[in-house]
Amino acid sequence: MTLNKPHVLLTGGAGYIGSHTYVALVEAGYQPVILDDFSNSHPVVLDRLQHLTGQRVVCERGDVLHTGLVTEVLQRHGCVAAIHFAGLKAVGESVEQPLRYYRTNVGGLVSLLQAMETADCRSVVFSSSATVYGDPAHIPVTEQSPCMPESPYAHTKLVCENILASLKGADPSWRVGVLRYFNPVGAHPSGLIGEDPSGAPNNLMPYVTQVAVGKRAKLRVFGNDYATPDGTGVRDYLHVSDLAEGHVAAVRALLAREQSFTVNLGTGEGTSVLGVLDAFERASGQPIPFEFAPRRAGDVAKYFADVSMAEDLLGWRATRSIDDMCRDSWRWQQNNPDGYRTAGNAPTSPVHSLRAGVASPALTGGVV
Ligand code: WQD
Repeated sequence: MTLNKPHVLLTGGAGYIGSHTYVALVEAGYQPVILDDFSNSHPVVLDRLQHLTGQRVVCERGDVLHTGLVTEVLQRHGCVAAIHFAGLKAVGESVEQPLRYYRTNVGGLVSLLQAMETADCRSVVFSSSATVYGDPAHIPVTEQSPCMPESPYAHTKLVCENILASLKGADPSWRVGVLRYFNPVGAHPSGLIGEDPSGAPNNLMPYVTQVAVGKRAKLRVFGNDYATPDGTGVRDYLHVSDLAEGHVAAVRALLAREQSFTVNLGTGEGTSVLGVLDAFERASGQPIPFEFAPRRAGDVAKYFADVSMAEDLLGWRATRSIDDMCRDSWRWQQNNPDGYRTAGNAPTSPVHSLRAGVASPALTGGVV
């Protein structure tokens, strides 16, 4: 029965981080409600979530910019909180298409918040990013580090954080949790859900797994002359299951206390590109061909998080290692060489039959 479980709206809940958070919320006793337009996700994920959770998935197809729809979904499910994942996230693309990024990311948040106000649901967790810090002067990066975003994508995240702060200032009954992610990688240990980039991956881990599975010839390591121990860029990679559990901790904290917060979610440890390659070779048992290439525009040498605030405020800390991240990414990629589009993965979910932007009870399985 889902009747007595607190319902939590997940905008973009069919995506990479949203789907892992769906599983973690079910495990923690919540009933997540997905709202997704499937513009960068695939309905097969719903079958996988059903399999993993042993219950029908609650999903509404629609665009978060459609405020009336979001209001109706929040009210119909009696949601007590929302986690806002829906948005565009490619840094390079944001430089080419800034208006699209502002409209989707900033407009999407405003629409959601208006819907939440109408539905009298005032607890929100927001997916922000360590990219708001830009090129940090001090490492580890604390939440007090100055925010100096460099890309339009990063600016949209900071604008959204500011909107949330203004809203909280105007109406203290809002509870706002801002989560600044470092570098999420990995997949659910089942190998059933994972990251499914369309086209050539921009990020390191999906590129490495596609090389390992033979879809790409070799990795280009962007820069080997940084001021780091082996000359390659250092990042704070975080297992997506740890990140998902961080969202559960954030929802729990918001609902239990009056307090709002902005916290980093990372492991507090840095790993270089060559360090990731080593770990991946150990996990997969095969060498990963690579070549050194010039630095990528906009990259910084090194950053990792100070994670003490997440531990103090949320009682959360990451537990999974870089080896766990590589092992689980590799299992996902091996089982799904073409992601959710892999042959034999035909969706059985009725989501295909829905018109975008129209809420349908057909997908609200196992509810109310
Ligand atoms: C990691 C390291 C690259 C690809 C980006 C966003 C950030 C966040 C996570 C959402 C760097 C190197 C990469 C490749 C390489 N996203 N690399 N060859 O740039 O730290 O962060 O994704 O919020 O906002 O900026 O992650 O995975 O792209 O790169 O050598 O083919 O791997 O130079 O050192 P990044 P990444």
